[in-house]
Amino acid sequence: MDKTAELKLDGKTYQLPVVVGTEQERAIDISNLRNETGYITLDDGYANTGSCQSSITFIDGERGILRYRGIPIEELAEKSTFIEVAHLIIFGHLPTSAELRRFSDLLTENELLNEAMKHHFEGFPTQAHPMAILSSMINAASCFYPELFGPDSRNTFVVQAARLLSKVRTIAAYAYRMSRGLPIIYPKPDLKYTANFLHMMFSLPYQEYDLKPEAVKALDLIFLLHADHEQNCSTATVRMVASSRANLFASAAAGVCALWGPLHGGANQAVLEMLEAIHREGDDGSKFIAAAKDKNSGKRLMGFGHRVYKNYDPRAKIIKRVCDQLLEKLHITDPLLDIAKHLEEVALKDPYFIERKLYPNVDFYSGIIMRAIGIPVEMFTVIFAIGRMPGWIANYKEVMEQPHSRIYRPRQVYTGPTLNHYTPIKERK
Ligand code: ACO
Repeated sequence: MDKTAELKLDGKTYQLPVVVGTEQERAIDISNLRNETGYITLDDGYANTGSCQSSITFIDGERGILRYRGIPIEELAEKSTFIEVAHLIIFGHLPTSAELRRFSDLLTENELLNEAMKHHFEGFPTQAHPMAILSSMINAASCFYPELFGPDSRNTFVVQAARLLSKVRTIAAYAYRMSRGLPIIYPKPDLKYTANFLHMMFSLPYQEYDLKPEAVKALDLIFLLHADHEQNCSTATVRMVASSRANLFASAAAGVCALWGPLHGGANQAVLEMLEAIHREGDDGSKFIAAAKDKNSGKRLMGFGHRVYKNYDPRAKIIKRVCDQLLEKLHITDPLLDIAKHLEEVALKDPYFIERKLYPNVDFYSGIIMRAIGIPVEMFTVIFAIGRMPGWIANYKEVMEQPHSRIYRPRQVYTGPTLNHYTPIKERK
């Protein structure tokens, strides 16, 4: 017999179905709770709410496990590439050679932006944050492909996905060039995804950017490690928008906005700014740690802590190793890396961080890698957004393919005034 949970409320007993995932994660299905009892559940910040069933990514935060479609992140980081992983995440399986070639060709075919979009880019002031440009331009791009989003949009999904994944890196590179007043560099069809992005970021009309294989590989790995992370703030946002049947580009643009905040994707920029500030002040990190523990200081140790990982973030382990290797290969010594390592060492021994299970997350070392490659700090969260695109696309697809999917619409417990009447303006005090 299927397991149920028993709820006793107002003298009555209710049976609630228990749902068990493939990794034995258990949930109590409360979808009929309000109909049957008049009660809703209250879960501030959704920490205990399963908003969907999903077969894309598995995380076990206690054991530090992350798997895309069942494959451990460590194996993918060692053996795969971002584009292969994007295929895995979006379509559910590792591509055969023919599938990978077709997918890569489709990405190449879709790498250019419509020339008219240049005018939109020119309208942004220099110094505009590239995340603002990215979300606006992803949304704007959808206007150029109405044929993809008509009633038959399910049949065009593969093209939509490839177009978004390919164009997001072109948009990101253009956003950077425009914000610096630099001429736009067009993509080169003979370059692979990540190398092409670096080319568009850093080549000049009269000089090709020197693509260092180890830098390309490190950035590809950063994309891969960010490719999906189940129901985080931005992915949940994408699913929320998708549930209203908004198109893929609009849903992804909303994801970019959610990612921007410093408690989410914006943390990688915040980490580097924190390390720079510590360095400027001549602190080795000790003063900052003391401030991060003081709730009145308004400071947090950025790049530390995670809603799900209560053990080490497995991505942080991989990134830390790659960071060391890259700096060695490029013969870079970065004082910020020494500060980061010192902060980590001190925090991991400090009862404040131990008791709260706060460990370095993926953002703690990724910024140092990006800095070594020459990516400016304001582009860090954009890099995260490019990396997260396969996850958003796959989650969008899952929402659209659910046979009985409903619009996402949480409830609330109202705490405002009870019935109150309109007071004419002259009578107001
Ligand atoms: N520095 C200092 N204290 C912290 C930190 C931190 N980085 N993170 C959490 N805490 C403390 C909180 O003050 C709180 O303390 P209390 O129990 O005494 O009140 C306790 O730890 C729990 O913190 P919450 O904010 O309730 O944890 P939550 O799960 O809501 O937040 C989050 C997780 C947002 C990641 C948080 O740890 C944080 O702000 N970290 C810094 C920002 C960051 O690195 N974000 C990137 C997240 S990963 C990503 O998006 C890729």
